[in-house]
Amino acid sequence: MDRLLEKSVAILKEYQTDQGAFPAAPEFPPYKYVWLRDGTFIAYALDLVGEREAAGAFYTFMAKTIIRHSYKIHRARRAAEEKRPLEDEECLHTRYTLSGEEGQEPWGNFQLDGYGTYLWGLAAHLARQGRMEGLYRDVISLVTAYLCALWDCPCLDCWEEWGEYCHPSTWAALYGGLKAVLPWLEPPLEGQALAVLEVLPAKLKEEFRREGHFVKFAGRPEVDANLLWLGVPFGICSYDDPVFKTTVEKIEKELLGGGLKRYRADTYYGGGEWVLLTAWLAWYYRLQDREREARGLLEWVAAQADEEGRLPEQVPHNLNSPEHYTYWVQRWGPIARPLLWSHAMYIIAATQGPSGC
Ligand code: BGC
Repeated sequence: MDRLLEKSVAILKEYQTDQGAFPAAPEFPPYKYVWLRDGTFIAYALDLVGEREAAGAFYTFMAKTIIRHSYKIHRARRAAEEKRPLEDEECLHTRYTLSGEEGQEPWGNFQLDGYGTYLWGLAAHLARQGRMEGLYRDVISLVTAYLCALWDCPCLDCWEEWGEYCHPSTWAALYGGLKAVLPWLEPPLEGQALAVLEVLPAKLKEEFRREGHFVKFAGRPEVDANLLWLGVPFGICSYDDPVFKTTVEKIEKELLGGGLKRYRADTYYGGGEWVLLTAWLAWYYRLQDREREARGLLEWVAAQADEEGRLPEQVPHNLNSPEHYTYWVQRWGPIARPLLWSHAMYIIAATQGPSGC
């Protein structure tokens, strides 16, 4: 194993709580919560390196947490039927405390992508385990029902922004999750999931295609690096779909320096280069047999580790807005490090070869 790979696995395991939760960044106060999206990629990475128990503990922790809050699902469905924005008490939150409670300070809690991602990761875990437990069957049904009712409601995207819009990356995660759990669904839920899966790919193109590529969301013609998710891992587009290919070319042209940025107008910590997204592009390159480019990106990622092998969320290179870097450092302190999701994406990209996906 390469050193950063070994270190990354050790860091993920070190910070997992006894209950199975992973804080997004244990030393960065605003991120001392478990997010479904970060946590699932962390568990997915651990499964890839054979750490099945640690991965299973996360999926179980999350399943119990979701089931405990599932009384909110009927409230969410009612709000969706009435076509009004969901309040905090009407949606499943995007993050929880390490003991599985909702956070108390204000946060943009309505984000659907993490729930799709969770289903996708849980299905991959169960396929590896080769067995199903009642708890997982219950959580799969609950989350599927929730997503089928809400999938076209505007919500915050995976960067926790732009809550008044729908987002292609969110739809990709919902597609990947619903498709992955189909084998475990029974009627009538199976039919509901199939109906959503059938409309999503066409609707994605209808709503988010502009000038031959996908856009960040309907109000924004630019690309976001999260559009990579449409192909890898969620597969709402095939890699040779011309619209997806043009989107990746635009991401490379507009967002890739040494590492990959989220989007051009990003101002969070000045809008630097993100470690997890750089590893994501390397993952895509590896699946495309573009080994040399993948290796270059993984070397860039490795070079961002500090002397203890800890990776940050982003690096302040080539900033979109230097004054925002100063603003965020004053507000929340230095950039989060270690960010567990960065380590997870390094593990995923480093271990998945062209035939290993
Ligand atoms: C990112 C989210 C992430 C969270 C925790 C936020 O700044 O935008 O994608 O889930 O941090 O890592």
